[in-house]
Amino acid sequence: MDISYILNELGEERENYFNAIAPPIIQTSNFKFNTVDDFRKALADEYQGNLYSRGFNPTIDILRKKLAALDGAEDALVFGSGIAAVTIPVLALLNAGDEVVCVENPYSWTIKLFNDFLPKFGVKTTFIDGSNTSAIEAAITPQTRLIYLESPNTFSFDVQDLEAIATIAKARGIITMIDNSYCSPLYQQPIAYGIDLVAQSATKYLAGHSDVMAGVVTGKQELIKKIFEKEYMNIGASLAPQNAWLLLRSLRTLPIRLEKITANANKVIEYLEQYPKVETVLHPFSKNNKQLDLAKKQMKACGGLFSITLKNPSLEKIETFCNSLKHILMAVSWGGYESLIIPACAGISKADFDVNNPRHILIRIYVGLEEPEYLIKDLEQAFEKI
Ligand SMILES: Cc1ncc(COP(=O)(O)O)c(C=O)c1O
Repeated sequence: MDISYILNELGEERENYFNAIAPPIIQTSNFKFNTVDDFRKALADEYQGNLYSRGFNPTIDILRKKLAALDGAEDALVFGSGIAAVTIPVLALLNAGDEVVCVENPYSWTIKLFNDFLPKFGVKTTFIDGSNTSAIEAAITPQTRLIYLESPNTFSFDVQDLEAIATIAKARGIITMIDNSYCSPLYQQPIAYGIDLVAQSATKYLAGHSDVMAGVVTGKQELIKKIFEKEYMNIGASLAPQNAWLLLRSLRTLPIRLEKITANANKVIEYLEQYPKVETVLHPFSKNNKQLDLAKKQMKACGGLFSITLKNPSLEKIETFCNSLKHILMAVSWGGYESLIIPACAGISKADFDVNNPRHILIRIYVGLEEPEYLIKDLEQAFEKI
């Protein structure tokens, strides 16, 4: 399907709302029925239509159609946050006694889901270095029901071989799920490689303005319906119609935002790669990435997110550098218009910080829509302080 059609037309039945160009926000919790028979049918199968907005709603439906099409999927569910789009499908797929093989070091709340939450329900997870497909295969047991991936990782940018892992999983009847937040559907299409479920924090690039929390999962309709009928409806982490509308508005500019963010980031990366106080610049398309060929096979581009390490790093140096930035904001998340920085040491107590631990010295940078020269000037004056 043509991306211009998806973003401008798909799902927009304008004759149903006065031929308005922009879709309406159907701000309602419930929908009325004219006959008991119609009501009975809707109650018997909520997946088929509008009954109650914890399930479906017309504004939400336009968004679902567009997000499914962007991923090349049959269907989509949208959620009130990205982590709900991870947690709810995972809960729907697993039963007590099942096992999960999960890539090492996924997003922090995903780790908590597998380490702290699921053991309460008798589900065990094994974390495996995702760059080693054979190790993933070796970790599969007869109880494994799910292989969970995050490619690329949003701090270290490790990638997994989606096609090879999907093939291994399919041969054993195991479901594969990926967190595709780093790439968005514009830069990576996991379903084309055989992955079953694609989750994303729509709070990032899809919403793109740092003002909406949202999540999405896409996949085959049979799987999406299974997730909807129990865990989605039971947990009730649905997206509000207002936020669905903001996402629809954001999707109109997704390609142009990503194109500019990527071009900006590439210029900032070019500057950092030659700057003497920078030791490494980490991103999937870096010349030094051992997984460069795989990353280039699976991904169209990298977007705005990458990490650096400083030459001869210390906690003091990292803190001084980050504290000195005037325009690049110190904050979590990414995908909006504004550039951001997170030193990994902010998540570690000073006593636990270990300068020899490569993960502790990472400084993650997100380049947004500001002009690259403006950002480079800010980085330059902060480097001068160390
Ligand atoms: C890779 C990744 N996945 C999922 C999430 C969770 O998304 P949300 O914050 O929208 O719940 C995040 C949030 O930062 C993330 O970075």
